[in-house]
Amino acid sequence: MTASTVKGFEPQILAFCCKYCAYAAGDLAGSMRLNYPANVKIIQVPCTGRVDMLHLLKAIEEGADGVYVAGCLEGECHFLEGNLKTRRKVAAVQKALAEIGIEPERVRMFNLSSAMGPRFAEIATEMTAAIRALGPSPIPRANLCAAVAIEEENRAIDAVEER
Ligand code: FES
Repeated sequence: MTASTVKGFEPQILAFCCKYCAYAAGDLAGSMRLNYPANVKIIQVPCTGRVDMLHLLKAIEEGADGVYVAGCLEGECHFLEGNLKTRRKVAAVQKALAEIGIEPERVRMFNLSSAMGPRFAEIATEMTAAIRALGPSPIPRANLCAAVAIEEENRAIDAVEER
């Protein structure tokens, strides 16, 4: 399916962003007044290592057209290997999607530092263009309530960690 066959398609994309790098880079992009597509809904996580395969699959199941994880540069994860472990989880999810006939490129992993505001905007733009070209997810769109639940769970964990 291509965007030309789906008139007016606007992708819904979830981005799980590590608070130490990608989320901070997003803030920087905002301060620099860089534009990026509103199609991307950002979920802050304490480390990408907190993102499980189930979170990625659930997002797709709930109707997200694309999902990506954005973590610290390799070798710079504050929890040592969270980003490396999640890179492997993303690869496993891509494989699982391919096996059931869903384009694996709907799920991606990126690495960046907190100083890379322009790269943050570029990733959001790149991902939106890629998903727009793929067309809507073959799974009917729901209300992305799973993503909201994950965000609330992470906020609760952050609150406990900050005590
Ligand atoms: Fe950023 Fe682990 S702390 S990916």
